[in-house]
Amino acid sequence: MTRLSVNINKIATLRNARGEDFPNLVKTAQDIISFGAQGITIHPRPDQRHVKYSDAYELKEKINTELNIEGNPNKKFLDLVNEVKPAQVTLVPDSDDVITSNSGWDTINNFSFLNDIVKEFHSNSIRVSIFIDPEINMLKGAKKINADRVELFTGPYAKEYNSNKSSAINKYIQCAKVADEISIDLNAGHDLNQYNLKFFIQSTKIIKEVSIGHALISESLYTGLESTIKSYLDILK
Ligand code: PXP
Repeated sequence: MTRLSVNINKIATLRNARGEDFPNLVKTAQDIISFGAQGITIHPRPDQRHVKYSDAYELKEKINTELNIEGNPNKKFLDLVNEVKPAQVTLVPDSDDVITSNSGWDTINNFSFLNDIVKEFHSNSIRVSIFIDPEINMLKGAKKINADRVELFTGPYAKEYNSNKSSAINKYIQCAKVADEISIDLNAGHDLNQYNLKFFIQSTKIIKEVSIGHALISESLYTGLESTIKSYLDILK
């Protein structure tokens, strides 16, 4: 079964809107886990506009499932991840001013930069996933730098899904085949929702984990977190 890691950035955004501690991020993460999600993802950005660096320490201590920390590996991020030691880190090449991640790494041109970071995280027993566009050469590049996994950027898939789902999925199926051949595990994320997820998972077959935030939290406004998470878990069965 593909594991569901819920991205809780939106919960932090809601909390920050009033500058206090409601909703409490750790309590919400614990509830999300009790509703069946197998992981929690956070993406602390340099301006700390949603998840703050301090949240990462508290979450690691107080949740009993996999924590995945995503972000651009600047010095502050590297220090944070090496101190918190989450189960997984996902390296994302997003610049400080983007609204959300919008493209993957060039794993060929950044070989030595990424390879050094992978070594450092491995020495702390942290699994490393690299966020990439669905391109075979980027996938092979990630394998060369010794990443454990890649996270396939599913934004382009979601965008094309409504107009032509077989074209939208094509590159992801090719990546899944090559990933299987070269032995690198696959995660996926961005813009996945209850409408486009099933086809993605059934077509690619070998996705270990999806990280989903925006749609899941938005859908929960109508159906509640528990029921929404259960619907995602049903899709992922
Ligand atoms: N993966 C990465 C690298 C992301 O930056 C995000 C958004 O923070 C997600 C997955 C989740 O995307 P969404 O919020 O659209 O589900």
